Amino acid sequence: MAARCGWRSVYFLPLCYRAGAAPLRRRWELPNHGVSSQNRGNRHISSPPSPAFAGATYTELRELCAREPDTFWGSVASHRLTWSSSFQQVSDCDLNTGKIRWFLGGKLNVSVNCLDVHVAKDPEKVALIWEKDEPGTEERVTYRELLEMTCRLANTLKHHGVGRGDRVAIYMPVSPIAVAAMLACTRIGAVHTVVFAGFSSEALAGRIQDAQCKAVVTCNQGVRGGRLINLKATVDAAVKSCPSVQSVLVAQRTNHSTPMGKLDTPLEEAMSKESAECAPEPMDSEDMLFMLYTSGSTGKPKGIVHTQAGYLLYASLTHQYVFDYSPGDVFGCVADIGWITGHSYVVYGPLSNGATTVLFESTPVYPDPGRYWETVERLKINQFYGAPTAIRLLLKYDENWVKKYDRSSLKTLGSVGEPINNEAWEWFYNVVGDRRCPLVDTWWQTETGGVCIAPHPAEEGAEIRPAMAMRPFFGIQLALMDEKGKTITGNDVSGALCISKPWPGMARTIFGDHQRFVEAYFKPYPGHYFTGDGAYRSKDGYYQITGRMDDVINISGHRLGTAEIEDALDEHPDVPETAVVGVSHDIKGEVAFAFVVLKENVSEQQGKVIEELKKLVATKIAKYAVPDHFLVVKRLPKTRSGKIMRRILRKVAMEQTDSLGDVSTLDDPSVVMEIIEEHQRYKSRLAKA
Ligand code: WTA
Repeated sequence: MAARCGWRSVYFLPLCYRAGAAPLRRRWELPNHGVSSQNRGNRHISSPPSPAFAGATYTELRELCAREPDTFWGSVASHRLTWSSSFQQVSDCDLNTGKIRWFLGGKLNVSVNCLDVHVAKDPEKVALIWEKDEPGTEERVTYRELLEMTCRLANTLKHHGVGRGDRVAIYMPVSPIAVAAMLACTRIGAVHTVVFAGFSSEALAGRIQDAQCKAVVTCNQGVRGGRLINLKATVDAAVKSCPSVQSVLVAQRTNHSTPMGKLDTPLEEAMSKESAECAPEPMDSEDMLFMLYTSGSTGKPKGIVHTQAGYLLYASLTHQYVFDYSPGDVFGCVADIGWITGHSYVVYGPLSNGATTVLFESTPVYPDPGRYWETVERLKINQFYGAPTAIRLLLKYDENWVKKYDRSSLKTLGSVGEPINNEAWEWFYNVVGDRRCPLVDTWWQTETGGVCIAPHPAEEGAEIRPAMAMRPFFGIQLALMDEKGKTITGNDVSGALCISKPWPGMARTIFGDHQRFVEAYFKPYPGHYFTGDGAYRSKDGYYQITGRMDDVINISGHRLGTAEIEDALDEHPDVPETAVVGVSHDIKGEVAFAFVVLKENVSEQQGKVIEELKKLVATKIAKYAVPDHFLVVKRLPKTRSGKIMRRILRKVAMEQTDSLGDVSTLDDPSVVMEIIEEHQRYKSRLAKA
């Protein structure tokens, strides 16, 4: 099919990616920098990222990538991606102004790279295994079938007036048709924004409005843990306030019939009338591929923009090397497509590599706590990638829930989204992996596009240690910064985690607000990308993430700004002021703790108001965002300039009042004691309940 569309791999063409540059040497040679080859990691890469690097070791490639990023990325992009026109320049970036552009002048289509190229080689290879909610009811979709589904869906979108550059919201749980919807957008050059199907109608509406989506793709109901979720009803409520939406395409996940309004079209029926072929739109490397909303420390969620070539290349490369993926493996990432992990490691990374990828619809405890491992046995999963929150939940059950299933197919275990504590690491590694599978704790973000810090690829003999994200991936130049904005040198040090060189997978902007992009990520440490996280560099130079430095919290691996929760709470007419902080939780990692000031005349109805506040957060954001704790206080600790000192509230909520720090800048320091006492009363009420 690739040949028919006239698409070809520029790997077979003369390499001319750097205007005016000397042609790439056919075999890459490592200049000797006085480091003897015995001292270098001597593990030769069996499957190098580009044939130009055959025979290189990981260390040599790391060095090359740091020294000559354009040589590395240019060669890798030419080899791994299929282009319709080759690029002329590898990069044009300036981290001071937030200008990030890769593979300039090149044209390609992401769906061609994820589908057509594999269909041309092996059409009957399984692309997706849809692990549906009920165990044992999985469905397999081949690359040929997925391409056909994608083309029919792409034609349906076109029929509804969706074209190049238009935004499409996808509000559905992971399923083949959801993956086809993402790829259909890429086929015709539309931009998808997948909204996690746990978000409320108001949260969905906010995202649709910000992105000005022309169409929404959804399904009648979702099925999870044996429960049905009426997704279409949520979409109906959302689109009422979204005049940009011209059509809603509704897939049928269950037999339940949903009333169809004037915007609605039954998706499968419409697809059956469309052609199974759709010519791919040649997209510029830097055209928008998708946007994904994520939380920051202030304001509404921001639409993080990723573009075509750089994102795809980075997702593909990290998928192969971080997880040691080999052709033929079954890759099992249990994330939802509503998050970046689902984008990069359920969809784009695995499919660009021609892998078989698992779409996990259920929960770790449905129908019982053995679900993950029963799935591993049945589907013969080789790489299992999940979140620490699920591991912390599962380790509370008997080990037999793991042991009774055959896990011999497993080669690599992966963890993502939040710090993995020692207990969870040990259990995952020892019990699930039988001490035989490397456990890769992967650090990255929506903004980074793919994994940036992970134990793999590792030099031979390198240990993998608990709770250590370890080393930067190819091309990732890490820096730790001190409070004055200076780079901290040496080892055994902590600081603000920054990345000082651009890489192809990084986000390009915030949709409609480039200024906010620059301010959030490039202003704090000029010339560097600031991650928002803190990190420790160990004595031997490995990295460990210490957590967010801003007002973003991480509930069960889901990122949320405390400001968003505060905004929802503040809408209550009886609540003049609130402050939300994150506190540790055994299983969820973190939960929200809300300090609430009530109007005087309502203080007797606290219970009622708190119930109303919980509802507000669930309807404005999502159920998972509802704070676990509410503490009514008379006033909040503020500086003389009126800024709430959340640092103090966090200490009170975490019961660390012996290390409150400096409270002298408070307008009235006596407020601290007042809040501590209120918190103690709250604790004793909880203990009695
Ligand atoms: C946190 C998820 C510790 C971190 C892919 C980051 C982690 C935020 C890890 C991004 C890890 C992610 N160890 N913390 N291995 N991975 N985080 O955008 O605070 O949903 O900034 O992307 O999750 O969350 P996001």
